[in-house]
Amino acid sequence: MHFDIMVGSVLGASEYVAEAILVSIIDAGHTGECHFEPCVSALNKDNILLICTSTHGAGDLPDNIVAYAKALQHKDLNGFNAMIIGLGDSSYDTYCGAAMTMETLLVEKGVTLLSDPLHIDVLHHPIPEDIAVEWFVEQLDKVIGN
Ligand SMILES: Cc1cc2nc3c(=O)[nH]c(=O)nc-3n(C[C@H](O)[C@H](O)[C@H](O)COP(=O)(O)O)c2cc1C
Repeated sequence: MHFDIMVGSVLGASEYVAEAILVSIIDAGHTGECHFEPCVSALNKDNILLICTSTHGAGDLPDNIVAYAKALQHKDLNGFNAMIIGLGDSSYDTYCGAAMTMETLLVEKGVTLLSDPLHIDVLHHPIPEDIAVEWFVEQLDKVIGN
């Protein structure tokens, strides 16, 4: 299986998470790519789409993933499979708002979510890649049976 990891990040934490997930994908015998400038040209129904995004502003998407999210609104994503990892800080009312925006968008466009999204509270998980990898390996087991 091939994973397209679409990263939304301002300060780099989500990039670290995406890179750690990619290592566990490869360790499990799969392939993948981190897209640090997400673009719809990478859309491929045969791959699993993994959104890995933080939230900024007041519940907003990071700037680097805004154009991608807008472009997805014009796509038919029926038949696509996805997973979502959100990073956020629970001291904000808009905790993990960007991950929730992406979830709503993907579901509206017909994407099947292979698991409930993971929301990582960086207040309690200062090294978010640890919990992300733990979760991902568990999901991989359930979803792909690897
Ligand atoms: C200016 C600013 C605004 C933020 N706004 C939110 C927010 O609305 N909701 C949330 O859950 N987290 C918010 N956060 C927390 C970030 O999502 C969190 O620090 C995350 O780890 C950053 O990931 P990144 O380095 O990939 O951008 C904010 C952080 C900053 C610095």
